[in-house]
Order: sequence, then C-alpha cells, then structure tokens
Amino acid sequence: MPDAVLRYGDKELTLPVHTGTHGDAAIDISKLRAELGLVTLDSGLGNTAEGEGSISFIDGEAGLLSYRGYPIEQLAEHASFLEVAYLLQYGELPTPTELEAYEESVRRHTLIREDMKHLFEAFPHNAHPMQILASAVSALATYYPDALNPLDEEAVDISARRLIAKTPTMVAWSYKYRVSQPYIYPDNTHDYASNFLKMMFSVPAEEYTPDPVVAKALNLLLVLHADHGQNCSSSAVRLVGSSHSNIFSSVAAGIHALAGPLHGGANQAVLEMLEDLHQNGTSVETAVKRAKDKNDPFRLMGFGHRVYKNFDPRARILKKQADEVLDALGIDDPLLDLARELEEVALNDDYFVERKLYPNVDFYSGIIYRAIGFPADMFTVLFAIGRLPGWISQFRELLADPATRIFRPRQLYVGPATRDYVPLDQR
Ligand code: CMC
Repeated sequence: MPDAVLRYGDKELTLPVHTGTHGDAAIDISKLRAELGLVTLDSGLGNTAEGEGSISFIDGEAGLLSYRGYPIEQLAEHASFLEVAYLLQYGELPTPTELEAYEESVRRHTLIREDMKHLFEAFPHNAHPMQILASAVSALATYYPDALNPLDEEAVDISARRLIAKTPTMVAWSYKYRVSQPYIYPDNTHDYASNFLKMMFSVPAEEYTPDPVVAKALNLLLVLHADHGQNCSSSAVRLVGSSHSNIFSSVAAGIHALAGPLHGGANQAVLEMLEDLHQNGTSVETAVKRAKDKNDPFRLMGFGHRVYKNFDPRARILKKQADEVLDALGIDDPLLDLARELEEVALNDDYFVERKLYPNVDFYSGIIYRAIGFPADMFTVLFAIGRLPGWISQFRELLADPATRIFRPRQLYVGPATRDYVPLDQR
C-alpha cells in the first residue's frame, strides 16, 4: 500500500498507510502534530482507528460480522456462549478438553460473597438494573483486591472468569430483591444460560426445569452480543483500561456506556416504542413519518447503525429466532407483527433507503426477551452479560499491546481567548 502525502502550507509529510486482514486501510498520523502542528478533527471518532485489534471484524457495507475470523452465522448455529467467551479471549476455538476445563473453572466462581446481598438491598426497588449492575461489578473489585493488577495476566485471567461467572448471579439476585422473592443460588449442574434462567425465574417452593428452547435462545442471544469492534462501550472499557485501572472498573465503565439509548439501551427503547404504538393504535406509517420529521425528536429505535449500511447480520438471525421462540412457547405477540410491519414500511421508504437505515440487533432481541419473561428494563442487562467476553477481551488485548499508551485525545479549543480575571466587585 503506497504512503499518503499531506501537503500543508510549504511543508509536506509522508504518512505510512497500514493495511489489516480485511477492511479499510489506516493512515498513521502519529507524527502529524510533531511535524506539522496539526491534530485531526473527527466527530464521533467515525474515521479513527484507535489501534490494531484482532477480536472481531465488521464489514458494514456487506453486513458481515466475525469473531476471530469465524462468521457470526456459524457461531450462532453451533457454539455455546462459554465457547465463544473462550474464543474471544484466547484467540482460538477450544478443544473439548480446553472447553470442559474452562466451563468447570467458570462454574467454580458462580457464587457471590454472601454479604453482597446487602448491596442489592441498599437500592430502591425501582432502581434501573443497569445502574445496579454497574455498581455491583465495581464492587467486585473490593472483594478481590489480590487480583486487580491489570498488568498481571494471571490476575486478569482469574478476574475475567469471576466476572463471567458472577454477573448472572448478581443480575438475578438484584431482580429477586426487586420482586421480593428469595435469592436462588446457582446450580452448577446446569449450563450457563439454564443456570441463569433458574436463578431468575425459579422459587424455592417449586420444582423448576429450564426450558431447553428458551435456554437455547438465550445462549444464541448471548453469542450474538459477545463482541462488536470498537463500539461505544468497548471503547469506554479500553479508555479506562488505558489508565491501568483494574478490569472491574473498566467493565463497569462499559456498562454505563452501554446503558445509553443510542447504544445497548435501544433494546428497551424498541420495546417501549412498539408498546406505545400498539397501545395508542398509532399506525406504522405515522411512526415512520414522525421518525423522518427533523422537528420531531422521535427516532425509529432499533434502526440505523454507525457501521452497518446494510442489514445487521445479528438482526437477520434474531428475526428468525423470534418466530421460533414464540412458536415454541405458543405466544402470539402483536408486537412481533407490529415490528415486522414497521420493518417492511421503513425498508421501502426513501428516507430510510437513502440513509441506509436497516434494523439493528436491538430491533428483534426485545421481543424474544419479553417472550422469555424478562421485564423490559432488564433487556440492556442481558446485552451486558452477552458483551462481557468482548469487553474482557478488548481490555486484555489493549494491555497486552506494547504500543498502548494512556488515551488522551485533543480538542479544537473554540472558547474565549485568554483574558484577565475580573475581581468580584468589578463584575
Ligand atoms: N430513525 C430516524 N432517523 C434516523 C435513525 C433512526 N433510527 N437513525 C439515523 N437516522 C438519520 C439521522 O437523523 C441522520 O439523518 P440526516 O443525515 O438527514 O441528518 C442520518 O440518519 C444518519 O444518522 P446519524 O445519527 O448521523 O448516525 P450515527 O452513526 O451518528 O448514529 C445510531 C447511529 C445507531 C446512534 C442511530 O442510527 C440511532 O440513533 N438509531 C436508533 C438507536 C438504536 O437503535 N441504537 C442501537 C444501535 S445497534 C446496538 C449497539 O451497537 O448499541
């Protein structure tokens, strides 16, 4: 790949161009400020590659996603969530022995410290589950001070296993507290998804057998959410990790970033939008019209993506899965019909076609979560459980890279020019 040349005034700077395995080539601008006194202005960082990475790859134009080179469709069909968690972190699919050992070591950590119960009980009953989750993940650092050094790979590895193992327990227990039901302890005879379902939906007074159709669907949802390049929350994890903060603090930052309605919070927002349209009898044509009106803040939640300019491949898989789960559970959800209708109208509307706005992963996931029985404000927490291996892998990749420096972007200052302080009595 030839170098790029930048001419500025009477100076010329040669900028090396790096190519990766697939995707856009990258101009290395690391000498730009030193040589030309310039910085780059890139709102939303849409043209900025923060570094090199090898965890997941997105081809937004073609609508493709892969983890460590494996297409998402193949992983969705064949892999368990813990298999994908292993793949993302260690770079290769595990052998049967490696997978068994990994599953066993995650299982060993599913319990949380008994006194953590008090943490959940300190929150108001109507606290948003994402706020509780971020606090609980942050709190984990206080229980495991011996394994916080981000530069000690062994410590990071054990913390990563603890995070993946304990998060479903923390999520389920915060839910049990909210609905005033007894906490259900993990049952390590189950697989990851079934164990979580049991902690969420069983009560000690009754037998509970996780429904295999539901467990399979939940496993699939977790696999589909496991990593997604340099999205907002993964960038937050990397940014915090770049200061050598511990993995729990860094992942807690990711959870806060994910909570926003433009990112993971969109899955809750989609369902609320569909419920609202259904309850008010608003036609999909009216919703689409409102979404196009620049004077109306309403957007079609679950549509559009910074990177995908085509169908989000995860949405394609979930659309099919939503049919299967609802059929298997015998649920006839009018919101699914509404979602299909909305998709149809939007995909044929010039505004959406011209802007390449397609349904994203959040468009259909909420319908499945709802069919399983999760309340809408827990949807983003489910996204967070799924994204854990991605955040952890991004953190590990960053800290293992000798080229990593603390993130410290610049800004084009457009505030007041330097001026003298005016004493209070003269203002
Ligand atoms: N409804 C109506 N118009 C939209 C929508 C939408 N959902 N999304 C984008 N647009 C319009 C936007 O108004 C703009 O129009 P114009 O060029 O006339 O000003 C154009 O499309 C480009 O949008 P943008 O906001 O500049 O694009 P972005 O890359 O900054 O934002 C996004 C991407 C995902 C934040 C945005 O599409 C959005 O707000 N979507 C709804 C929220 C959502 O579903 N988020 C989940 C994302 S997928 C899961 C995840 O990774 O978190």
